[in-house]
Amino acid sequence: MTFPHSIQLARNPEEAAPRAASLLAGEIAADPRIVVGLATGGSMRAVYDDLIEQGRTGVLDLGALRAFNLDEYLGLAGSDPNAYAFEMRSVFFGPAGIDLARTDIPRGDAPDPVAEAERYEASIRAAGGIDRQLLGLGTNGHIGFNEPGSSFASRTRVVDLAPDTRTANARYFPPGREVPTQAITMGIATILEARRIVLLATGPAKAAAVAAMIAGPRHPDCPASALQAHPHVDVILDVASAAALPA
Ligand code: GLP
Repeated sequence: MTFPHSIQLARNPEEAAPRAASLLAGEIAADPRIVVGLATGGSMRAVYDDLIEQGRTGVLDLGALRAFNLDEYLGLAGSDPNAYAFEMRSVFFGPAGIDLARTDIPRGDAPDPVAEAERYEASIRAAGGIDRQLLGLGTNGHIGFNEPGSSFASRTRVVDLAPDTRTANARYFPPGREVPTQAITMGIATILEARRIVLLATGPAKAAAVAAMIAGPRHPDCPASALQAHPHVDVILDVASAAALPA
């Protein structure tokens, strides 16, 4: 299958992130009550910084956004500095002045994680679904925490993290602290229901995953290749992450 979506190529991460931010900003400007799906990870910081700045200067009204995050580490409470809930509050919701009641993220410390995953799906549905989902890309091709082998029909659920994901994410944890072994993540089918998706992947570590997503078969070995069948994905790359694409 050939990749049917728009691909933007920036020179470097600094030029790529504002392009993702500007896609989101345009849609928020058109409808401040839009439902957005958000992602964590280093690549997203500059996207959030850009949106915060547009909010601060009055260019954009971020106050009415409804936001759902992709995933959370299982076992971490939202107050844990390594929890994605904590990260989102510090890098986006707090500085952007977004009411936390309008945000949702799976609870990593839920007493019943299976019920929590079901609650999360229902919460997205009750909000009318996601209008624009922001995605990063794992070095192994994961989206959210849907690791290689994940079914394309998967919904929000508890997953085991792949060893290479735990290694890649160890840089965000203090020395001596283990990366959790499990997470709750939106499923691939959940992600594919978003009306529009923007995937941002930069840097040489993502080159193989980018090539598999775009030029490989649509197969669970590369979870991001599921996006080949979505009707509207904007892919934003830099020269380094695009390096392994066929000419
Ligand atoms: C984590 C997240 C993913 C994200 C990936 C890439 O594993 N669960 O949703 O896409 O990291 O992160 P980074 O931007 O830090 O490379």
